Amino acid sequence: MGSEQFNTCWIVSEAGYGDPPFQTEAGAGPTIVNCLYTYTGRRPRALVDECPPETLTIGDALAHAAYLEAASVAAFRDLACQLEAHAAPASLLRRLRSAADDEVRHARAMSALARRRGGTPRPVRVPRTRRRPLLAIALENATEGCVRETWGAVCAVVQSLRARDPELRAAMRGIARDELRHAELSWHLGAWLGARLTEEERALVDLERAGAVRALARELDVTPREAWHAQLGFPTREETRAMLRALGAGVWKTRRNPSSARRELRRRVRGPRRSGGSFVGASVTPR
Ligand SMILES: [Fe+2]
Ligand SMILES: [Fe+2]
Repeated sequence: MGSEQFNTCWIVSEAGYGDPPFQTEAGAGPTIVNCLYTYTGRRPRALVDECPPETLTIGDALAHAAYLEAASVAAFRDLACQLEAHAAPASLLRRLRSAADDEVRHARAMSALARRRGGTPRPVRVPRTRRRPLLAIALENATEGCVRETWGAVCAVVQSLRARDPELRAAMRGIARDELRHAELSWHLGAWLGARLTEEERALVDLERAGAVRALARELDVTPREAWHAQLGFPTREETRAMLRALGAGVWKTRRNPSSARRELRRRVRGPRRSGGSFVGASVTPR
């Protein structure tokens, strides 16, 4: 597989995420974006950090969510290109491309919500990338998939019940279903990659995942002061801690076994339900 594949697969402007659409550029080394509290999900390794320092309004917050949803489109497309070059099975590639399509829908939905509330989503810029070894992909998947996408799925479920904005609540119901599927996919991918790594490399991936869990916990351990935070349906600091504890005790400690990880995830995270219930150990009351 030549480098051309990696150049062209980044062109995602047809996603119609916004105006201007996605941009790509060849450039210097990658910078991982430092996201705002609770906005998580899979990010491309080479995403150029253009996050605003402050989010002041609901429109800004939704615009940032749209930005990260759009970044996930690039992340899944890159992953599919990378894994195709490593002769991954067609079924896995299909699921990755289907996840990219999901993220296109999410980006469009969040972008429309943001614009109607005065927000302007920024374009996503991702430098071109080269083929990476399986270990690098596995390390990235441990952080961006098994940890951040899993958290993003759980958070989306909570938002689908709690957001005060009825339009957002409705949008999050579909997004939460997709994100739970993406979280499962991350664990399946981790297993496929793990089977192709050495014991030492698998230990590195485990360490990476543990480090990503700690980093996420630090990132989330803040008391949100913005009024829009509750309006968007995010969990409180205490709920966040409880959810992280439960995920840490179950899902994130599960070792290289996608079936048990999936079962654990399903056990701890029920899909959106009108009746509310317990989400990874934190009680959540729907609106
Ligand atoms: Fe998404
Ligand atoms: Fe996702």
